[in-house]
Amino acid sequence: LRDKYLTRIADAGDEAALEAVRLEAVGKKGEVALKMRELGRMTPEERQQVGPALNALKDEINSAIAARKAGLEDAALDERLRGEWLDVTLPARTRRRGSIHPVSQVTEEVTAIFADMGFSVAEGPQIETDWYNFDALNIPGHHPARAEMDTFYMARAEGDDRPPHVLRTHTSPVQIRAMEATGAPLRVICPGRVYRADYDQTHTPMFHQVEGMAIDRDISMANLKWCLEEFCRAFFEVDDIALRFRASHFPFTEPSAEVDIRCSWEGGTLKLGEGDDWLEILGSGMVHPKVLAAGGIDPDVWQGFAFGMGIDRIAMLKYGIPDLRAFFDSDLRWLRHYGFGA
Ligand code: PHE
Repeated sequence: LRDKYLTRIADAGDEAALEAVRLEAVGKKGEVALKMRELGRMTPEERQQVGPALNALKDEINSAIAARKAGLEDAALDERLRGEWLDVTLPARTRRRGSIHPVSQVTEEVTAIFADMGFSVAEGPQIETDWYNFDALNIPGHHPARAEMDTFYMARAEGDDRPPHVLRTHTSPVQIRAMEATGAPLRVICPGRVYRADYDQTHTPMFHQVEGMAIDRDISMANLKWCLEEFCRAFFEVDDIALRFRASHFPFTEPSAEVDIRCSWEGGTLKLGEGDDWLEILGSGMVHPKVLAAGGIDPDVWQGFAFGMGIDRIAMLKYGIPDLRAFFDSDLRWLRHYGFGA
């Protein structure tokens, strides 16, 4: 009996087989229990011999089962560990986090600074009508400014003789849309993409501008000047900022001024706020009465200033980036070099 069960226990291949052997041997109706029952029919002498022997056998079988069970569990664990083997000394695979593109970041910075001065944000469509992009801004059909803008025109359906839509060449059409939407008084900036057919180190066919416009009952160039100086101090983080307002011409402002910022190129690096050089950063002026009227605002009651600034251009100045085209190459090494990649 003993040898039979010890062999079967050793042969049990898994816990289920082992349990079957256990029931057969030492279970309530197992073989050992049956033998125990026979004790009653034995003489006291026989009983004294066989009883302890059966108990010892039961103990031996139970401990053999326990040992075999532990062995099976160890084997199962070894098997699992072999499958889930992990080398903690391998170098980790690094993952880089995404980050904000410099143009988006600068747009946010600009927006925050003007928000502090009470400007809200408006947006307009990138595909504009001839009216919003040109006529409403006092740029009639024959005006040379149209040719200078290197405009992208949308294809027209055959037989459609209306003026073609354009990819907006500046954010100024949003001036008109903002006036129509809210009327006067008004303080708004309009950041967004604009398009011109031009490509070199400082021009890309798609770039970004932010338009600014303030309309009230007695707005003057002095307000414009203060506002832009305040902006430049905050944006470029230079206290002694110096701006130069240079008389210029835009059809939609009168008078008009281009604004330069004082700088130096000491040893090839650009420094703002000092030196003898001037860098143009934006166009501006007092909103032309015809433009106010086109936006539905009475020019006899209201005046306003407006300006338009290249976002990519001021980003280049702030971060010392020499080539505008790199902004749109999606080269992660470039982004990280300028501190924009995580
Ligand atoms: N729209 C002009 C440009 O793209 C900039 C500008 C905006 C000038 C507003 C004056 C007033 O060059």
